Amino acid sequence: MIFKISTFTHQSVTTMSTAKKEYKRITTKTLVDMKKKGEKISMLTAYDYTMAKIVDSAGIDVILVGDSASNVMAGHETTLPITLDQMIYHAASVVRAIERSLVVVDLPFGSYQSDPKEALRSAIRIMKESGGHAVKLEGGKEIKESIKRILNAGIPVMGHLGLTPQSIYKFGTYTVRAKEEEEAEKLIQDAMLLEKAGCFAVVLEKVPAKLAQEIAEKISIPVIGIGAGNGVDGQVLVVHDMIGMTHEFNPRFLRRYLDLYTDMKNAFAKYSADVKSGDFPNDNEQY
Ligand code: KIV
Repeated sequence: MIFKISTFTHQSVTTMSTAKKEYKRITTKTLVDMKKKGEKISMLTAYDYTMAKIVDSAGIDVILVGDSASNVMAGHETTLPITLDQMIYHAASVVRAIERSLVVVDLPFGSYQSDPKEALRSAIRIMKESGGHAVKLEGGKEIKESIKRILNAGIPVMGHLGLTPQSIYKFGTYTVRAKEEEEAEKLIQDAMLLEKAGCFAVVLEKVPAKLAQEIAEKISIPVIGIGAGNGVDGQVLVVHDMIGMTHEFNPRFLRRYLDLYTDMKNAFAKYSADVKSGDFPNDNEQY
């Protein structure tokens, strides 16, 4: 089989509807510059080569190899079961597909919470074994030392505050976070702490839009929202949700761009019917 090595030319960039022409390869610095210029950042998840190739070629700035792979790819109820080895497998598959996007990889539950040395070991494994460009960790003050240690080793860190799914058993619910004054104040302090520690960006998940905007205005690093309104510096969605491959999950913040669940189901049913009726393969589809 001959594989065509594609080159990401200026020409192909200009044909994208939303991609910014001037960024050949997105880096952590690009994202901070984009915030300074008021350019919004697009981010989607991907967990495999084929999906990552499409996401990258569409001009999405950041690809998150999220621990949501635990739900989406493996069918677990929470993000807790996915292991570091499994995250590395997903991340390496994504990295092989990438020409432009920045690849951020989640440190999974249990790989960084116990102490900063373990956090650094896990982050190093991700960088060395997957080729990812940065790691993401959930939490603020309580994981400050781990974040600092990872950053000191030269590994870029993206923070994640608000709804932090790895702590689901502590909170007991996936509802909107920081609606009360005290939690909102802690969120602001944590965001400032992440900025001061040297994180290059922070994800804010499911918090009131007004609070998210206030945080985005307060800190100089990009704030990427999911269910955090339009006043932040960029948006992230789980790709299988936004293309409608999943269909049971229907939060208010989710915009579905396709209904692939229905389209794929119909295609599979049609294929099955064609096989059973003897219609497939026809004369042109055989040797
Ligand atoms: O794992 C994930 O997909 C995430 C996003 C929802 C931000 O962390």
